[in-house]
Amino acid sequence: MHSSIAFASTSNMLHRSCCQATKRTLSGAHHASRIVAASHRTITSTPRLATPVPNRSASDAALFSLNRSVRSTAPAATRTLATIADTQEHRPSPLDTDIEAMRDSPDDLILKPGEEIPGFEVNNATSEMLGRPIYLDMQATTPIDPRVLDAMMPFMTNQFGNPHSRTHAYGWETEKAVEDARVQVASLIGANPKDIIFTSGATETNNMSIKGVARFYGRSGKKHIITTQTEHKCVLDSCRVLQDEGFDVTYLPVKQNGLVDLELLEKSIRPDTCLISIMTINNEIGTIQPIKEIGAIAKKHKGVFFHTDAAQAFGKIPLNVDEMGVDLMSISAHKIYGPKGIGAAYVRRRPRVRLEPIMTGGGQERGLRSGTVPAPLAVGFGEACRIAKEDMKFDHEHVKRLSDRLYNKLTSACTDIVRNGDVAGYPGCLNLSFAYIEGESLLMALKDIALSSGSACTSASLEPSYVLRALGSAEDMAHSSIRFGLGRFTTEAEVDFVAEKMVQIVRRLRDLSPLYEMVQEGIDISKIDWSQH
Ligand SMILES: Cc1ncc(COP(=O)(O)O)c(C=O)c1O
Repeated sequence: MHSSIAFASTSNMLHRSCCQATKRTLSGAHHASRIVAASHRTITSTPRLATPVPNRSASDAALFSLNRSVRSTAPAATRTLATIADTQEHRPSPLDTDIEAMRDSPDDLILKPGEEIPGFEVNNATSEMLGRPIYLDMQATTPIDPRVLDAMMPFMTNQFGNPHSRTHAYGWETEKAVEDARVQVASLIGANPKDIIFTSGATETNNMSIKGVARFYGRSGKKHIITTQTEHKCVLDSCRVLQDEGFDVTYLPVKQNGLVDLELLEKSIRPDTCLISIMTINNEIGTIQPIKEIGAIAKKHKGVFFHTDAAQAFGKIPLNVDEMGVDLMSISAHKIYGPKGIGAAYVRRRPRVRLEPIMTGGGQERGLRSGTVPAPLAVGFGEACRIAKEDMKFDHEHVKRLSDRLYNKLTSACTDIVRNGDVAGYPGCLNLSFAYIEGESLLMALKDIALSSGSACTSASLEPSYVLRALGSAEDMAHSSIRFGLGRFTTEAEVDFVAEKMVQIVRRLRDLSPLYEMVQEGIDISKIDWSQH
């Protein structure tokens, strides 16, 4: 009950901000989306009202995409026309009259209960009523920031040129937008924009970097790669493919907190090592690897390149490829409130890293990744980077505060909770194991919260996560683990709801657990020889 009240009020406040923003559309859509973004965090704050960006249609869409309670009733075609009006001449939209009429009346900026908003259909349902679980799976993907959508809209409509068309203005304008985006991506990691290659995401970049470097330098006999046991599947799979091609791969174990042992890493380097691939932040446990130290080790050995999968770190923590000695980096847009389907590879040119491309064709992207760069996605990615850079400190503090709040609420109400990973890891990835609870029961009970568990559900069995196994977690603890993924738009109300729900579920399941009962009675269950029973 408490939670549904919290949600209703969150939703209404957000809704109010959105509608106020819409009414202010006189000064633009960015405006609106900025308020939406801000309102997700602080609910009442309406900062940065001064940025006028004249694009009403993107605003509609942004509101629609983020606020499930407000839906534009303007026909899609009209919305497209309104977008075109931004860059060409103004064409009337059905929203114009109503919005213009509100311009001079400050009272209109306050939304009254039950009030109708011109051009919008208002649905006062809360997220619970709409049957949408609370989203705490930010490592899987993040919602698009409405400011990103605003930036993309013109390139989804009238600025549709192929950025590689050199003979006309359609191509030139999208080429410029793509190059601007490249600068924004590069600036988040202190790179030269020329070293940024657009790809479809981090999976492609990891494949391209690992296979590309190995195949190029493998020709001269450098056939050894070092990685860790806790990398993302796409890194491990790329390495397995290379093993089939005759490469030798060292999969380093990690310590209990998920960190690599630097001494062991250095000892594993051989004369034929061409690549070290170690991720920056682990997607399951949030452990942050000592990238700078790893980069320094790689630099001591001529001909050893250092690749890092930074899909979970880019835009969340400060990164600088020169300071960290990184030669190749994998980046994804949809982990930082950008669009899905685009990412980037950082590929150092000085000193030059050579890759055998996995995609060939038109020779785009320095010949390393042929194919038309999707300009709307690149623009959205660039904008997501701009926002991430500007808001990194704020976002981090916000996520840390909510993560601490969740952790403290859970651990003060329940015993026997183990935090997986490193305490100094990324706070937006909180991985906890709840002892004496059946992983499957926990999953079933959590259906109104969207999150990931340490059990990878396959058709035949529930396999515990290979990452948790690599930390040395017992199978039952790995099974009972939950990853809470918090982000820019997570609210305190959501965290409180989740904490309350988790405590209820954990208590209920433990009440049913014979193991927990034995522990309560003082029996040391680790000393029980189960085989005799
Ligand atoms: C660490 C890591 N690497 C790579 C990927 C793959 O990213 P993308 O979805 O952009 O291909 C992910 C996303 O799940 C990830 O967390």
